[in-house]
Amino acid sequence: MKVAGAHYRTIWPLASGAVRVIDQSRLPFELVTVDLATLEDAAHAIKAMLVRGAPLIGATAAYGLALALREDASDRRIEEAARVLQATRPTAVNLAWAVTRVRRAIAPLDPRQRFEAALREAGDICEADVEQCRSIGLHGLEVIRGLATPSTRRINILTHCNAGWLACVDWGTALAPIYMAHDAGLPVHVWVDETRPRNQGAALTAFELGAHGVPHTVIVDNLGGLLMQRGEVDMVIVGSDRTTAGGDVCNKVGTYLKALAARDNTVPFYAALPVSTIDWNLELGRDVEIEERPAAEVAEVVGRTAAGTVGSVRVVPEGSAVLNLAFDLTPARLVTGIITERGVCAASREGLASLYPERRRAS
Ligand code: MRU
Repeated sequence: MKVAGAHYRTIWPLASGAVRVIDQSRLPFELVTVDLATLEDAAHAIKAMLVRGAPLIGATAAYGLALALREDASDRRIEEAARVLQATRPTAVNLAWAVTRVRRAIAPLDPRQRFEAALREAGDICEADVEQCRSIGLHGLEVIRGLATPSTRRINILTHCNAGWLACVDWGTALAPIYMAHDAGLPVHVWVDETRPRNQGAALTAFELGAHGVPHTVIVDNLGGLLMQRGEVDMVIVGSDRTTAGGDVCNKVGTYLKALAARDNTVPFYAALPVSTIDWNLELGRDVEIEERPAAEVAEVVGRTAAGTVGSVRVVPEGSAVLNLAFDLTPARLVTGIITERGVCAASREGLASLYPERRRAS
C-alpha cells in the first residue's frame, strides 16, 4: 500500500542477505525501518512487536530461520532456530506454519544450499501472502457491496486491532476488502477500535486508513456496543491470529465482546484470514494458547506530548495487580462468515472444508 505516494511493504529482503522491516513500535509518530541480520534480530523484532500481526509474524519468522542458517545450516541449528522463533509469540499460528514450511523446503538439501533455499522460501511465503490478501479483499468486497443500497449514505464498518497491510506483507486481511470497497467508490467509513493495551487500532489502523484516504473515526473500545444499538454499524470485520478447524476465531482481546454485541444487534460479524491462520489440528478455540504479555503494556500508555517527545506514562497506581492476556476467543456460533482467499464460508468445520476440501478429515 502507499504512504505519501510511495509504495511500501512491511518486509523485504536486501541484497546483503539481511531483511528490512518497518518498525511498527514507532508508528504513527515516525515511519522508520530496521534491518534484521541475524536470528536474534528477527526473534527480537517479533517479541518486542516491531513487527506484529499474524501473517507478518509468519513472514518474519520465515526470514528469521533463513538468517539463522547463514553461518551454520546444520540440522541442529535448524532445530535451535525453530525453537527460538516459536517461543517469541505463541498464539499466532502463522509463525509455526511458516517455520514448518521453510524447514520442509530445506530439510532434504545439502547444508551448503540451505541458506539460499530458505531465503527463497521466505520470499515465496511473502508473495503468496500478498496474493492471498488481495483475494480476501476481492471476496470481502462482494460482502460489502451486498450491504450497499442505492440510498446508502455511508457503509459503517467496525474493526478491532490492526488487520491491515501493516499486519501482513501488503493489503491486509480485514482491511483489504475495505481498501477495495473504497477504491471501487463505495462510501465506506470505518469505526476504528483503539484496541488497548497497545492501541494498534488508534496507532496503526488509523495511520494506514488515513494514508490511503479511507474515512475513519477512532473510538474507545467500549463504544462499539452503543453504536450498534443506534444502527450505526453495518458490519464488523476483524482479522484472526488463529482460527480453528471448527471455526472458532482467536483474535486480539476485545474481539469476543464485539461479536456478542453484534449478535445482540443483528450486525453481521466477519473474520477475514488466509489459510495460514487456520489451525487444522485444533477443533475448539479453548485449546488455543493465549499469550500473556508484560504488565507494563496495560499499566503504561505510549504517546507523544505536545512538545513532540514520544514516551510512555503510567496510568495504573503502583502496586495494583495487572493481567495482560493479548487475545480472546470468539465462538463460531457468533461468526456470520469467514472470508478467506478462496471465498466466504460458514464458520464451521463443514464451511471451511467446503473451501479447503483437501483438508477434509477422513471419517
Ligand atoms: O498483537 P498483535 O498486534 O500481533 O495482534 C494482531 C491481531 O490481533 C490482528 O487482528 C491479527 O493478527 C490478524 S492480522 C491480519
